[in-house]
Parts: sequence; structure tokens; C-alpha cells
Amino acid sequence: MRIVFLGAPGAGKGTQARLIAEKHHIPQISTGDILRAAVREGTPLGVEAKGYMDRGELVPDALMVDLIRDRIGCDDCLKGYILDGFPRTLEQARALDAMLAEVGSPLQVAIDFSVPTEELVRRLSGRRVCRACGASFHLVSAPPSKEGVCDHCGGELYQRPDDNVETVSKRLDVYHAQTAPITAYYREKGLLYPVDGMRGIDEIQADLEQVLLSRK
Ligand code: AP5
Repeated sequence: MRIVFLGAPGAGKGTQARLIAEKHHIPQISTGDILRAAVREGTPLGVEAKGYMDRGELVPDALMVDLIRDRIGCDDCLKGYILDGFPRTLEQARALDAMLAEVGSPLQVAIDFSVPTEELVRRLSGRRVCRACGASFHLVSAPPSKEGVCDHCGGELYQRPDDNVETVSKRLDVYHAQTAPITAYYREKGLLYPVDGMRGIDEIQADLEQVLLSRK
């Protein structure tokens, strides 16, 4: 399955992508995770991306399109993948369609998670992420069994630097201005599947399983 996950910061894309990836043995391609790893390693991509990420702005389209072209060309993507955080602009969406058309493997579904703004802010301000495996927790609604320690791998939990209130507000503005219009693009193509992201994680999972089954 070739799947795109859309939705505002904190809508639950990463949480659901991780579950689907494990169950269906396809990679979760999180552009945010790839960029954060590049920043940590100090690669040229990371050096260029850091300022944009710290300010809550989008990294330029050209860099992101090249990154995705390389990544989906890898062997582990032959059976499909979940794009978590890409595309983020209409230009990225069109570039993705063009590269998939070249290889005759179009997208099958674009899942759009919707969650009200107050809840997005609550989720992001309480989110803690594992440095080792990337799993997400929430201090109140999904706390780890032991404070500061990942339930899955024992890694250290930390707060993402862009999860502070000021940067979250900027990321939400950027989402509404540049990313939200993509939903209309996928709706016109008959690929959009809207998901109510206010339900529990398990309920959303079950919903996604049904839609993936129907689009196979
Ligand atoms: P990125 O890492 O992609 O961040 P994002 O889109 O802002 O998304 P998040 O990871 O914050 O949220 P999520 O929807 O995955 O939520 P999660 O599942 O963790 O991007 C970061 C930056 O990189 C961007 O600002 C930009 O600079 C750059 N970038 C990345 N891609 C780019 C691109 N294509 N083009 C240009 N720039 C790009 O859940 C959040 C919290 O809620 C967690 O605590 C979780 O436990 C909890 N939660 C999840 N589901 C539920 C639920 N159902 N009920 C209650 N709590 C829940």
C-alpha cells in the first residue's frame, strides 16, 4: 500500500503510522524524523533544515522532494510505505504524483486526521518522544510506565524543541496556510479519507485497517 498521512502537527499521524507500519511490514517514512536525524548528525541537509525547523517553518520544497525521491526508491519501499509528514505543500504533492507516475505506482489513499486546535496544543505540549526508537508518549493521556523511560526500548524520553508553545503556534499557522489546501487536491483525485482524530488510538487504528482493506 502506498499511503499518505495528512493532518496538523499533533493530529496523531506518527502514532498511527508506527502501528500500521509494524502490522503491515511497510516502512513509516517520517520526514520530520529524517530531518531531526540529519540535524543530530550535522549533515549538510541537517545544517540547512535546522533553522526552518526551530522557527516552525517548512524546509524548502526542493530539498524535501529530493529527499523523498531517494527514500521511496529504496528496496524496502517496493511493497509500499506510509508517508508521514510529506507532502506539506501543493508543490510537494504534485512532485510526488509526477515521480510515482514515472514508475507506474500511484498513491492509493490519503488519510486526513482532523483534531481541534486546543487539543493539538494540549497533545504537543505534553508529548515526550523516545530518543532511541522515536515512540511518542503523552504526560497525561499516554504516560510511560516509568517516568522519562520508553516502554518499548528503555530509551530516554525528551521534549522536542519545536513543541514549545510559541513554535507550536507558528507550526499551526504554517499548517493552515500551506498544508491544509492539499486536502482539496486529494479529494478531487478521489483519494482522500477523512478521519476523526479525536477518538482513542485503538478506535482510529481499527478504522484505518478497514479503509486500507478497501483500497488494496
Ligand atoms: P514533523 O516531525 O512532521 O511534525 P508535525 O507534522 O508537526 O507532526 P508531529 O510529529 O508534531 O505530530 P503527529 O501528527 O505525528 O502527532 P503524534 O502522533 O506524535 O515535522 C517537524 C518539522 O520538520 C516541520 O515543522 C518542518 O520544519 C519540517 N518538515 C517535516 N516534513 C516536512 C515537509 N514535507 N516539508 C517541509 N518541511 C518539513 O501525536 C502527538 C501527541 O498526541 C503524542 O503525545 C501522542 O501520544 C498523542 N496522541 C496521538 N494520538 C492520540 C489520540 N488519538 N488521542 C490522544 N492523544 C493522542
